[in-house]
Parts: sequence; C-alpha cells; structure tokens
Amino acid sequence: MKGMSYSKNIINLAFESSCDDFSCAVLLKDNEGIKILSNIIYSQDFVHGIYGGVVPELASRNHIKASLPALKFALSKANIGLKDVDLISATAGPGLVGSLLIGLMEAKTISFALNIPLVKINHIEGHIFSPFLENKEEFPFIALVISGGHTHIYLVKSHSDIKLIGKTRDDACGELFDKVSNYLGFGYPGGRVIDELAEKGNKNAFKFPLPMAHSHTLDMSFSGLKTAVISTINNLGGFGKIKENIVFDIFASVREAVVKILYKKTLDAVDIYGINTVVVSGGVSANSRIRSLFTEHAKNPCLKVIFPSISLSTDNAAMIGYAGYFKSSIDPIKNKEEFLNINADSSWEL
Ligand code: KG4
Ligand code: ZN
Repeated sequence: MKGMSYSKNIINLAFESSCDDFSCAVLLKDNEGIKILSNIIYSQDFVHGIYGGVVPELASRNHIKASLPALKFALSKANIGLKDVDLISATAGPGLVGSLLIGLMEAKTISFALNIPLVKINHIEGHIFSPFLENKEEFPFIALVISGGHTHIYLVKSHSDIKLIGKTRDDACGELFDKVSNYLGFGYPGGRVIDELAEKGNKNAFKFPLPMAHSHTLDMSFSGLKTAVISTINNLGGFGKIKENIVFDIFASVREAVVKILYKKTLDAVDIYGINTVVVSGGVSANSRIRSLFTEHAKNPCLKVIFPSISLSTDNAAMIGYAGYFKSSIDPIKNKEEFLNINADSSWEL
C-alpha cells in the first residue's frame, strides 16, 4: 500500500488489548495538534456475554484472531503503510496478562523489525488523558477513572506527575453493574443495559446503602452495595420472578447509589486539593446519570468537568496513542536491553 506523506509530522500506531477488546489506532501529531486517523475496536462482548464475565483464555484466543485484521484495517482507514509510522504505543498493563501480551508483542515485533521507537503505556494513563483527544489540556486536575476494573481518583499535575488519592477497597463500580445485570439475566457487560433501563425506573424506589460515602478518606467500597442489591433481588423472589417495572426501579436505584458515591468522593477531592477541573473517564463515564449530575454541577462556574465522548470512554487504542506522544519524550526506551525486557505487567500501578 502506498502511504501518504506526513513529513515532519509524527504518525503514531497504537495498540490496546488489556481486557476483552482488541484495538488498533493511528494518530497524527502536526502543528495543529493530535488527530485520530483511525481507531478500530474489535469487541468481544458476544464471546463473553453468555458466561457473565470475561473468560481470560477466550479473550487471548480472540485477540490473536483480531490482531492482524485490526492492524490492517487501522492502517488502511488512515491511508498509511507501516513505513510511514514514526512511533508505536502499546498498553503494557494493568490487565489480563494473556490479553496484554497479544497487543504488546505485535507492537514490539513491528518496532523491532522496522526499527520504530516503542513506548509502553499504562492503561489507566490512557483513560486519564482520553478527554484531551477532543478538548484542550488543563493542569492540574482531579481524575475520576471508572471502569470494569478500576474506581480510582488521581491528582494530576502534569503528564508525569500523577498521584493516586483514593480508590475502591473492593469491587470496581463497573464490576458492580456487570454483576447485578448478570444476576438479573441481562448478561455481560451490564453497565450500558442498566443505564438504558434505569431511564424507565424510579431512582427513589429502593434506598440502597452508600458505603463509605461519608468517610473521611477518598477511598470507596462497592461490595456491600452489591450484596444489598442481590439480597433485595432474592427477597423479591429472585431471577425471573420480578416484574419488569420493579427491575427498572432496581436499576434506577442502584445507578443512583453508585453515582452518588462517585460524585461525593470527587467533590471531596476537589475541596481537599482546591482544584476545580475534573476529568471523568473510563467505561462507566459513559453513564448518562453520571454525565447529567456532573454537568449540572458544572453550571457552577467554579467547577469544570471534562468527559471523553462516549466512543472514547470505553477501551480504545486512540487514548493509548495520545499518552504515547508524551511518554516518548518523558520516558523513552533507552537501549536494546531495556527494549528486550519490555513485558506485560498485569498489576502495573501508576
Ligand atoms: O474502560 P472499560 O471499557 O474497560 C475496563 O478497563 O474495564 O470499561 C468497561 C466497563 C464495564 O464494566 C461496563 O459495564 C461499563 O464500563 N459501562 C458502563 C456504561 N457503558 C459501559 N457503565 C455504566 N453506564 C454505561 N453507560
Ligand atoms: Zn479501561
């Protein structure tokens, strides 16, 4: 394939495969900023849905199948060839080790064969900066990263100064949505379906507990809330026995409880650190109630809340590429030995 010429500009090929989505993106950085030329996502929801959660071995096997088609599609959509690539960015953790290895090794192989610099990116870092693919960067900010595996609050002063200031002590908020949805027979992943059906329910129908919401730390807890919702479902007769309108009420009430906890802790962080810019990102940030509550609050001119667009909320390689541009100048791979030692780190903490 003949590539377009982007002289003096930086073309970045990015890979993300930390969980059950395989994504490959091409970005361009020129004097106008950073643009997404392509962002291909092969979702595996149909593979794992019937099991009620991600089956790691199936995720890696399906990533192998997706890895070359995703690369080819991303390059052709961006109208470039591999010889045009100046930089490669790949997620190296945290996540499922078998999944991470597929994208990372594809990136490493291209980097080695064509002598293109490679940067390894922390998945959470990708989420933190994802809104800046479409919005102007502003430092410092409080970042609320909410996904199927994370519920973390960070104080972000620059691309390289990111401090964890609060996190869930047990389940992630997305995990809670996924488990409740699965328990009621709505399958995996559950966040989006709960969000849609919650619109038909009454958010005040059930008073679920808000564990740790009023504690003096920025840490959170969701497992007690999950148990309370599951017990309510059991008390109402269990799976298949609850009337549709009551299911919608449960969804609306649990969504409200999760959103209240996240909202309270984020505003606590704003108060404690005196920082009035907030970034909310990760798959759960697609939630319509979270968006409406924060946006309402942001009418207060003292608070600015920035979300990624819905399509960039869930896992994608474009956000990894965005972080890659900065990482390549802050933390480049220095020598061959360091390159050879790049490996997946399933529990890599920022
Ligand atoms: O960031 P992500 O794609 O993957 C992880 O890094 O985990 O997030 C996936 C999570 C799942 O738990 C899914 O149920 C949740 O995001 N999610 C939502 C919505 N859309 C996806 N949760 C609440 N409301 C939504 N609209
Ligand atoms: Zn994620």
